[in-house]
Formats: sequence, C-alpha cells, structure tokens
Amino acid sequence: MPGDGAVVIDVHSHYVPAGWPDLGEGQPWLRVDSEREAMIMVGATEFRPVRPNAWDAGVRLADMDDDGVTRQVVSPTPLFFGYELPGARAAKVARIFNDLALEICQPSQGRLLPFAQVPLQDTDAACRELDRCRESGHLGVEIGNHVGDRDLDDEGVVTFLQHAASIGMPVFVHPWDMPTSPRLDRWMARWLTGMPAETHLSVLAMILGGAFDRLPDSLRICFAHGGGSFAFWLGRLENAWHRRGDLIAKSQLPPSAYVGRFSVDSVVFEPSALRLLVDTLGASQVILGSDYPYPLGERPVGQVVHRSDSLSDHDRAAILHGNAERFLGLP
Ligand code: CO
Repeated sequence: MPGDGAVVIDVHSHYVPAGWPDLGEGQPWLRVDSEREAMIMVGATEFRPVRPNAWDAGVRLADMDDDGVTRQVVSPTPLFFGYELPGARAAKVARIFNDLALEICQPSQGRLLPFAQVPLQDTDAACRELDRCRESGHLGVEIGNHVGDRDLDDEGVVTFLQHAASIGMPVFVHPWDMPTSPRLDRWMARWLTGMPAETHLSVLAMILGGAFDRLPDSLRICFAHGGGSFAFWLGRLENAWHRRGDLIAKSQLPPSAYVGRFSVDSVVFEPSALRLLVDTLGASQVILGSDYPYPLGERPVGQVVHRSDSLSDHDRAAILHGNAERFLGLP
C-alpha cells in the first residue's frame, strides 16, 4: 500500500514529449495550448488532450509518490510509432522520440525507466535503433502488436525479437492501429473491444504462427492490458488446437504449453479478472501495469492488486515488483 515502503514497479505507462517537432508528412503532432495543456493532433483532428503528467518528470514522480509507486517504465504513445512511414524516415522519428524520452526520465534519478520505440517495418533499422538505445540508457522497447498486415510471427518481426533476446532487452507489446468501421468507431469501441481482441490475436500469432517455437526461452516479452482476451479464451483455443488441428495446429505444442513464455500486465481493474490471470498464466507471469497517465488507465496505480484478497503475500509481492525486476533485468 502507498506509504508502507514496499518496492512497487509499474511497467505500463506512456509519455508524450512537450517539445517535439512537427515532422510533417501527415504525422501526428502536438498542439501546445498553454504550459499545462496540449492536444495530440492527427491532421486537423483532435485526438487526445495531454497534460504535463505526459512529459514532466516532477508531476509524474509526485503522482507515483501518491500511489506508492517506486519506479515506472515510460513507454512511447503508440500513435507515434510511424510504422506506416518509409523505414529510414521512421528510424529518424524513433531517434528523435527516444532521445526526448531520455530527457524526460533524466531528472528522476532512476525512478523513470525509458523504453524505446523502433521502426519495426524495417528489421535492420529496428535492430540498429535498439542497439543505439541500449547504449544510451533505455531499459527495453515497446512495440506495436502488428505492422500493417504483418503480425508478430512475421519473419522480420521474429528476427527483431531474436535480436532483442540476444542483447537482453525486454519487449512490451502494446495494441495499436485497431481496425475501424462504422460499428467500431462508435463510443470507444476500438479501445474497449478492439484493443483486447488485437492483443489476443497477437498472442495467438506468437503461438500458432510458431514464433515461440523459433524464439529462445530467454526472450522477455510482456503483453499490455492483461494480455487482452487471451486468458479467458485459452480453453477455447486449446480445444480448437486438438479438435481442428487440420486448420490451426501449426505450433509444435498445444497452446497451453506456451503460457510460461510471456507475461501480461495487471491493468484489468477487477480482482476477479486478476485472479483469472493468476490462475491461468501463473502469478510469475503477471506484472503491475497502469497505463498511466491516460484515462483508461488505473489510478491509484496498483489498486486491483492491493484489493485482491485471493493473492498470497508471495504472489502479491511478485506482481508488485519481483516479476518486473526479472522482466527488466534489474538487480
Ligand atoms: Co497503454
């Protein structure tokens, strides 16, 4: 709980740099309205208002103190990945963002832990940027859950993941670029049903597409939002693998055999949902996440973990910090 001195590490938060340049070419840009208010713009359309908690280390640290959070992974806001750009152009965008992320985290004395973005559409450029970021102080990388029609079992993406594993950089997978349609564009359907479905699809791609079979056990990979719909529907997937192997049994092992290969974050809001994650994936595979500072995130951070009576003290400590330390490679 806040104030009890326990170590608490949040692996899912985002930043937007206040001072980032308008890069043109239809790229999202930031309209700064005042010192305390800005608007993420896509063309002439207002996408999302942001406040200093998106870029100001002091504001973030004060919120972390209020919520009892010791350290926080600071990842890109997926809208800015630039995967649709030519590789060289996206590599330049990534360099600008990644260097600004270091500036944002710098005053925190190690409490804010920067994660990089990479031009995932260009495998060589993505590996080069990851190498550069590792040297410059990033602790890991956040990737989108797909690059256009290429999913996480795509050869280029698997090569990138192999590289991340080989240099010991953890990978956080975030859904983004959700399908749109008149039905999905109502309310926040792309966030409320699209994001969990996208993440579920990506875990399926890693399993059924044979990505886990091609990747080393040493890869540390974590999926956002509790892994989307995956844990709830693992039984359906397992049944399909056995009963319709003619169509889907492309992995060497049944889907349930891969649950130890990846982690998910804890931002599922309800203790019953967190319990499902722990029962299905194991307490060692669930890591505190919040989605701070955005409105669909959890505040106070870690509430659902603190409220979950079903967790043993051992499992609660693992979710609050031990699993994050392993994921991040912290001592
Ligand atoms: Co997020």
